[in-house]
Amino acid sequence: MVELLKWTAIGSSLRRLDGVAKVRGTARYAFDQQVENPTYLYPVQSTIALGKVSKMDTGRAEGVNGVIAVLSHLNAPKLEQTDDAELAVLQGTHIGFRGQFIAAVLAETPEIARHAASLVAVEYQIAEHDAAFRAEHPGLYAPEQVNGDFDTDTTEEDVESALEASAVVIDQIYTTPAEHNNPMEPHATVAQWHNGELTLYDSTQGVHPVRQSIAPMFGLVPEAVRVIAPHVGGGFGSKGLPHAHVVLAALAAQCSGGRPVKFALARQQMFSLSGYRTPTIQHVRLGAGKDGRLVAISQDAVSQTSRIKEFAEQTAVPARMMYSSPNRRTTHRLVPLDVAVPSWMRGPGECPGMFGPEVAMDELAEACGLDPIELRVRNEPDRDPDSGKPFSSRHLLECFRTGAERFGWGRRSSQPRARLKDGWWVGLGVASATYPFMRNPGNAARISFQEDGSYTVQIGAADLGTGAWTVLTQIAADALHVSPDQVHLEIGDTSLPVATVAGGSSGTASWGGTIIAAAQAFRREHGANPAPGAQTQAEAPEDPDAERYAMHSFGAQFAETRVHADTGEVRVSRMLGVFSAGRIINPRTARSQFIGGMTMGIGMAFHEDGVMDPRFGMIVNHDLADYHIPTNADITDVDAIWLEETDHRAGPLGARGIGEIGIVGAAAAIANATYNATGLRVRTLPLTPDKFLF
Ligand code: MOS
Repeated sequence: MVELLKWTAIGSSLRRLDGVAKVRGTARYAFDQQVENPTYLYPVQSTIALGKVSKMDTGRAEGVNGVIAVLSHLNAPKLEQTDDAELAVLQGTHIGFRGQFIAAVLAETPEIARHAASLVAVEYQIAEHDAAFRAEHPGLYAPEQVNGDFDTDTTEEDVESALEASAVVIDQIYTTPAEHNNPMEPHATVAQWHNGELTLYDSTQGVHPVRQSIAPMFGLVPEAVRVIAPHVGGGFGSKGLPHAHVVLAALAAQCSGGRPVKFALARQQMFSLSGYRTPTIQHVRLGAGKDGRLVAISQDAVSQTSRIKEFAEQTAVPARMMYSSPNRRTTHRLVPLDVAVPSWMRGPGECPGMFGPEVAMDELAEACGLDPIELRVRNEPDRDPDSGKPFSSRHLLECFRTGAERFGWGRRSSQPRARLKDGWWVGLGVASATYPFMRNPGNAARISFQEDGSYTVQIGAADLGTGAWTVLTQIAADALHVSPDQVHLEIGDTSLPVATVAGGSSGTASWGGTIIAAAQAFRREHGANPAPGAQTQAEAPEDPDAERYAMHSFGAQFAETRVHADTGEVRVSRMLGVFSAGRIINPRTARSQFIGGMTMGIGMAFHEDGVMDPRFGMIVNHDLADYHIPTNADITDVDAIWLEETDHRAGPLGARGIGEIGIVGAAAAIANATYNATGLRVRTLPLTPDKFLF
């Protein structure tokens, strides 16, 4: 256990320090960066899903006035490292998915580049592709590990016999579709070479991680690559690692005569080039006594990967720790397809993986004649069922109790399809949420004192729009025993000390813990009255509790839905999330993260569906006109609250991270509410009106 900071700036709803610049339009995102004499890049994408480029004629494109270069496998500079097939662009003729970069035009204006790109003539040698996701795929295989370095399977032989002997069994298939990260700011990179060194203005969740991946591809030491990202317009995981466009921009900048290259993906291009959430097929089996106590939990999860690069969603991992059960089986299998590379999307693993089991729990509650909250009470474990370690803090039931009272859960009819109001069936539903606590090693922060009495705090973190600028300033202020306006924070640049990715909801704890360590070191070295120019750099402290405790955040999602009796139109009329996430650093930005996650969960429940046409290997609804995300008209009353809590095991902040848990369980709560409203159990997302016509 560590000593906690005095709570002064921490816990206050300080307004976003970057808010004014963003509202006025002066905050510079990657593409906005003012560089001298820029050039513009537009890509050519493959129109087949599998095969080879057999012939490419760039002559007409090259002849367009204003075109500087046309890059393809024929003339692109060679990369030093090509083992990552997603990133190794223009290095050969192989095509592994539809939409892959096969050429790019560099020109004086974006319009010229785009026009010339349309003139590149390509001939293909077409191979027969397979882009149809199905659990009975002949190539189904078990990956060595799943995302997050988790074991692929946990199996116990007794599961089958326990299921057979169970008084009540739920045995169903649940599916979630491909979902696409759609941050407001598209992926964008500005690249420039100077004396053999590379500068990238990039829209990224981690400047240091981008440097670490990109530098070796160009045969450079990390210090020869500088990545700058002061402001980022969202990412939801899709900017957690560099994608192919970053490499393409850097390659093109080797052919621009030293001029900078500006490259932003168009919205449609993002659907195949920036990662997405794999579709999942989840076979969930729950076995219980008549009293609802689980005796067996089984989840077999199938997801897809691109054949050119493996990504294994850890869909069945949350089932390992969520509920008590003497018998448990969780497995992951991958379908290898000729499709774009899936990756992280808000709550990878937990988000899709809590859909199947949390709907199954609702089905089990009904089968046992129990209230769904009471069912969770009966299956609450006293330690982590997976590791056997004690939880640092587990307040799931308190979240449910608090939410039940506030939401009016007592008014729910245990009988489905009992309340028809003004032509709408109305129902209530719940689901649990969870997200692991991650605090990453490998961070450092530097603190210096200025003559004017202010402190400069430097760490190469990134604010992807969550509020890191603000909360890190609050943390630094308390750590230095000064007010936030005496802190001058610097983030978003690899010239600052090394920092880990803004991912896994780990940023605040990882960077904040490092800033605290640096502040303590500074005070030890320089005292409370430092001389101007005093400076200290420190690394992230060791975290002994990380090994001793299972650390997770928890939440209870409540939804009231309305389903139109004639049209099947579905709406969430009220939603409440109650979260236990340790200490909340800034209630204003935290609430924004929670309700943002829940809003995205409404999108998952009702709208989001990347429709693959397997004949062409493409997502056909690849724009915001056809791929729906919730907008104002879809969101009425979404509220989030949290338990007042400090997790004394979770580092010096006592905070566990809030960026992702808001989406977890949200779609399940909504699905359960639509069942309560209509008596129709839908196990396939999204919950579109056609599924409620009866
Ligand atoms: Mo988040 S999907 O871990 O960036």
